[in-house]
Order: sequence, then C-alpha cells, then structure tokens
Amino acid sequence: MSRTPFLAGNWKMYKTGAEAVSFIEAAKPLLAGVSGRQAAVAVPFTAIAEAAKAAQGSGVLIGAQNVYWEKEGAYTGEISVGMLKAAGASFVILGHSERRQFFGDTDEWVARKLQAALEGSLVPVVCVGESLAQREANETFAVLGAQLKGSLAGLTADKAATLVVAYEPVWAIGTGKTATAAQAQEVHAFLRGELRNLLGDKAAAETRILYGGSVKPDNVKSLMSEPDIDGALVGGAALKPDSFAQIVKFDV
Ligand code: 13P
Repeated sequence: MSRTPFLAGNWKMYKTGAEAVSFIEAAKPLLAGVSGRQAAVAVPFTAIAEAAKAAQGSGVLIGAQNVYWEKEGAYTGEISVGMLKAAGASFVILGHSERRQFFGDTDEWVARKLQAALEGSLVPVVCVGESLAQREANETFAVLGAQLKGSLAGLTADKAATLVVAYEPVWAIGTGKTATAAQAQEVHAFLRGELRNLLGDKAAAETRILYGGSVKPDNVKSLMSEPDIDGALVGGAALKPDSFAQIVKFDV
C-alpha cells in the first residue's frame, strides 16, 4: 500500500487569474525536480483557465472549491463538473466547512456533488471537521462519523479509487491553532476505520486523508510523519509561492 502525498492549497476567495499566473510562474522553479508527491491548488472559478494553462507541464494540479451536481440547466450562478473540466480543473473540494457554515452545504448535497464529480472524472476532496464546541462536548468522533457517512452516501468501493478525504477541524482553520500531530493522527485513524466500515479494506488503505487547519512550513513535517496523514489542505500558507513550495517539499 502506498499513498502518494497530496499537498494542496485552497486559495478560497483570493487571487485573480493574473495573480494566479504570477504565483504559478514563481512556484514552478521552486518545485522543479520535486517528485514522489502531488502538488495542487484549488483556485477561484474565475482563475481556473488561466491557472491551468500556466501550470501545464509543471505537475501542479489545478482544482475548484465547489461544484453543482447538475450537468446544465436553469441554475443561475452555478457551475457544472463538465464546465470545470473544460476550464482545466482536475479536482474539486467538496463540503469545506466554510461552505457548510456560510452557504448551507449539507452532507446530502456533498454526496450529490461527489457522485457528479466521480461521474465526470473530477477528483473529489471531501472535507469533514468538528467545531470547537463539538470537540469540547466530546462529540468529535460522532460528528465526524456522521459527516463522513452522510457525505459519502451512495458511494461504492468500485467508484472510490480517486476519493480524497480532508479532515479540517473548524477550530484550527485560519486561527493559527493547529491540531497537534497526535490529535490529527487520532482522528485520521478513526476516519480510516470508518472508511473501512463504509467501503472495505482496499478503499480504506488507498484513500488519502489530508489534514487542514493552520498548516505552515514549520509544522507540515511533523504532521506528515504520522502514519494516517497523507497530505495537507492549506489556506493562508498556500497564498505565497515560497511557503507553498516549502510545504510541498515538506521532507526535502
Ligand atoms: P488555513 O490553512 O488558513 O488555516 O485554512 C485551512 C483551510 O481551510 C484549507 O481548506
């Protein structure tokens, strides 16, 4: 079993197309020759096409931060899997806590988006995470178990080959408070066990589980040294080419 480390930036609502191109041009030489891992950036919809063009041949994947499940239709403001693919995206973040918190994304919606992404060969990065109140009330595992089960509803083992899961404790996002490597590992091991229950041994062994929440160049190595942490989903520290590159090169 080997899970290629997946180091992904999530730019959230930052950067125009031109800014994305500058970032990628600056990151390329910093990442040249780095192998044995997948680098990726989820950019705003409006920057996907330019970013994908700039990233050609660099090995950096360009992705989106959300998608709608219908192929086309009267859905003002929404964007389909086919549109993302045509623009050059190869992965999509689903169910980020900011979508759940501010835009009403539910587990059921995430599950529908997941089906659409898989049907359209877009790699899905499904996010789960508990709030501080839930952690303090000892509900972490119950909350995460329910979120994972709901978000993966309808998924079968034969379709799960490209699935990526991200654990992002809400209290660690943008707060500077990282879960300790041991805290994150405890949750990742739990999530892998839940994947085993839902999808079987093979999918559990092969699915990459990323950690997100205040990942920085100086804490990524210790997180990545845990057996069930297979990558990172990085907000703030992925906005600058040098800190992004340091994160991608966590062990170099
Ligand atoms: P920060 O790295 O800024 O804490 O954001 C984490 C995140 O939400 C990545 O998806």
